[in-house]
Amino acid sequence: MSIGVCYFPEHWPDEDWERDVVAMADAGLDYVRMAEFSWGVLEPERGSFEFEWLDRALDLIDDRGMQAVLCTPTAAPPRWLVDERPEILQQERDGTVREAGSRRHYCFNSPAYREETERVVRKLAERYADDSRVAGWQTDNEYGCHGTAYCYCDDCADAFGEWVSDRFEDAADLNEAWGTTFWSQQYDSLSDVDVPRPTPAQDHPALALAFARFTSDAILDYNRLQTEILREHGAPFVTHNFMHLYPAIDLHEASADLDFLSWDSYPTGHVQEGEGEASADELRAGDPDLLSLNHDLYRSVGGAPFWVMEQQPGDVNWPPHSPQPGEGAMRLWAHQAVAHGADSVVYFRWRRCLEGQEQYHAGLRKADGSPDRGYDDATEAAEEFKTLTDLDLPEAPVAILHDYETLWALDGREHAPDFDYWTLLGAFYDALRARGVAVDVVSPEDDLAYDAVIAPALYTASEETADRLEEFVREGGQLLLGPRSGVADEYNKLRSAQPGPLADLVGATVEGFETVPPELPRSVESEDGDRYPIRIWAEWLARDEAAAEYIYTGEDVTGGRPAVVSNPVGDGQATYAGLWPEPDLADELVGSMLERAGIDHTERFPDGVRVSVRDGHVWLCNFTSEPVDVVLDDGEWVLGGPRVEPFDVAVAETNRLSGLSLD
Ligand code: GAL
Ligand code: ZN
Repeated sequence: MSIGVCYFPEHWPDEDWERDVVAMADAGLDYVRMAEFSWGVLEPERGSFEFEWLDRALDLIDDRGMQAVLCTPTAAPPRWLVDERPEILQQERDGTVREAGSRRHYCFNSPAYREETERVVRKLAERYADDSRVAGWQTDNEYGCHGTAYCYCDDCADAFGEWVSDRFEDAADLNEAWGTTFWSQQYDSLSDVDVPRPTPAQDHPALALAFARFTSDAILDYNRLQTEILREHGAPFVTHNFMHLYPAIDLHEASADLDFLSWDSYPTGHVQEGEGEASADELRAGDPDLLSLNHDLYRSVGGAPFWVMEQQPGDVNWPPHSPQPGEGAMRLWAHQAVAHGADSVVYFRWRRCLEGQEQYHAGLRKADGSPDRGYDDATEAAEEFKTLTDLDLPEAPVAILHDYETLWALDGREHAPDFDYWTLLGAFYDALRARGVAVDVVSPEDDLAYDAVIAPALYTASEETADRLEEFVREGGQLLLGPRSGVADEYNKLRSAQPGPLADLVGATVEGFETVPPELPRSVESEDGDRYPIRIWAEWLARDEAAAEYIYTGEDVTGGRPAVVSNPVGDGQATYAGLWPEPDLADELVGSMLERAGIDHTERFPDGVRVSVRDGHVWLCNFTSEPVDVVLDDGEWVLGGPRVEPFDVAVAETNRLSGLSLD
C-alpha cells in the first residue's frame, strides 16, 4: 500500500526540482507520475528529442528512493504535429473540427496519428521502458476525457464501414439483423453504412449500438498499439488511468491488455455530476458508495489490485463548485481506496499551477512550493500504509453484473429523465454497501463463484447468459434481477416477450410497464402490508410459476398487480424486481437476499458511514461531519476507533461484520 503524486517538472524552474522531490520523499511517497502531456518538451521539433530534463527528474526521484510512473505523451499532440498533419484532428458530429489548443484533439482511427504514436512511444520505450528508475507505465491519459471518445471524421467513417462489413455477409443480412425497414432505412450495400450523422430524429437503435461497440473497439485497438511497444521493451507494468464510471470503453476487454486498471478519483466533483443536489457532507467528502463502486469495478474487472492514479488533493477546477474538502478527507479517500483493493493512491498534482487551463486546481503543495492541506493528509496516509502491507484482495460473497452492451443499448431508450444506468446499479449496490458487504462488479460472462448475484439491468441478456444464470440458481445461488432484463437482442431489436430468455428462470413475464413521473407516484406493498415508494420505472408481471412478493398499491393502471416475484429453482431462488427501488425497498430486497444466502453483514448503516472489509481488516470510513461511535464485539482496533471523528477513518482486525455496530 503506497502513496504517490503526479508531478510536472516541466512547469517549474530547474532550481525548484530538488526541493520539490525532497519534500515528496519526506512525505513518505513511493511513486511520482510524470510526462503525460510532455510531448512538446520531449520533441520540440520533429525528430529532435530532448531527454535531458526527464533524466534529471528521474535521477532526483531515484536518489531519494522513489520510482517514477512514466506516461506516454499522446494525449497532447504538439502544435507542430497538428500543423504538419491536420488530418489527425477529431471531428464532431456536425463536422466541426476539434482543433489544437487544449488536449485530446486526436482521432483514435487516424492512420497518421497511429504512425506518430508508434514513433514517439517507441522512442520513449527504447530509452526508458525497463529503466530501473521507472516502476511502470501509463498509456496516454484518460481516453475519452472532454467527450472525445466519439469522432465522426473521414477516417472514422472508413474504419466504421470496415468494422460493419466484417460482421455481415451483405446488406440484406444487415438490414434483417438491424431492422432497417422502419422509416425506409434499408442499406443497398454494406459500403453505404456511415457513422451517425446529424439527422432530424434520434439514431436507429442498431446503428447507435454498433457505433458504440465500434468506438470502444477503436480506443482499445489504439491502446494496444502502445501496450505492445511498451511490453516489447520490457515495461514492468502497463496501465491506463480510466475515469469515474466511464461508459464508452468496455473495461472487460480493456483489462486483457493491461496489467491492472487505474482510475482517477475526484470525490467532490463526481457528486456534482450526478442526479439531484449534493448534500453538504457530499460537497466536503463525496459519496462513499459512488467512490467504492468505481474501486470495486476497477478491482474486479482488472482481477488485480488497482491504482487510484489521480486522487483529488484539495479543491478542483472543473465541477460547478470547488468547495475545500473536509478536514482529513484526502486521507480518508486514500484509506477507503486501499480498503477496496487499491495498491497505490497517487495524488493529482504536486503543486498548484501558475499557468494554463488548470490554474484553479489544488496540489499537495501551494504554488510557492509550501505545504497545502493535502500534503499533511498524504503524509499521514503514507505513514499508516507502511503498517498495512501485503493484504490480500477483498473476497466478495456477492457480485453485481455490469454489462456495456446493456449500457449502450439502453442509451436513448431510457424513457425517463432520471433513468441512468449507473444510478440503477447504484440503487442495489448502495444497499449492499450500507450493510458492509464486499461486492465484485463483474461481466455476465465471468465465472459466477458467488453466494448471491444481482443483475440490476440485463437489457440485452443472451440465451447463454440466461442458461448460466439458471445453472447458478439451480446450484444454490440467490439471484436478484432488476427491471428491463432480457428486453433486446444483440442488435438492439426488441424481443416479443420480456424478460426474453430469462422468462423461465423468473417464472413470470412482463405484462406492462410505464415510467414513474413524480406527479404519478407509485408504491408497492409486501405480504405483511409494509409499503414502499418506488421511482422512475414500473413493470407489472404475469406470473407463471413465480410467487408475488410485492404488489402495486392503489386503484389505477398498476394497482393490485405483481411488481416483484420470486421463483425457487433447484437449490436457489430467482427474484425479479420489475421496478426501480427507493433505498428502503432496496434494503428490504437486498437484506432478505443476504439472509437467504447466509451472508455475513452489519445492520443497515446510515448514509455516509461505511464499513469495508479486506483480508481480516475492517475500515470504518466516516464521510459525514458528525462523529460516530462504533461497537466492536470481537477483534481489535489497529488504527483509531472506537470513536470515528468527521471525515476520519478507523481500522480494526476482525473477521466478522455482524460483530460491528454503531452505538
Ligand atoms: C483529470 C486529468 C488530469 C487533470 C485533472 C484535473 O481528469 O487526467 O490531467 O486534468 O483531471 O482534475
Ligand atoms: Zn475520427
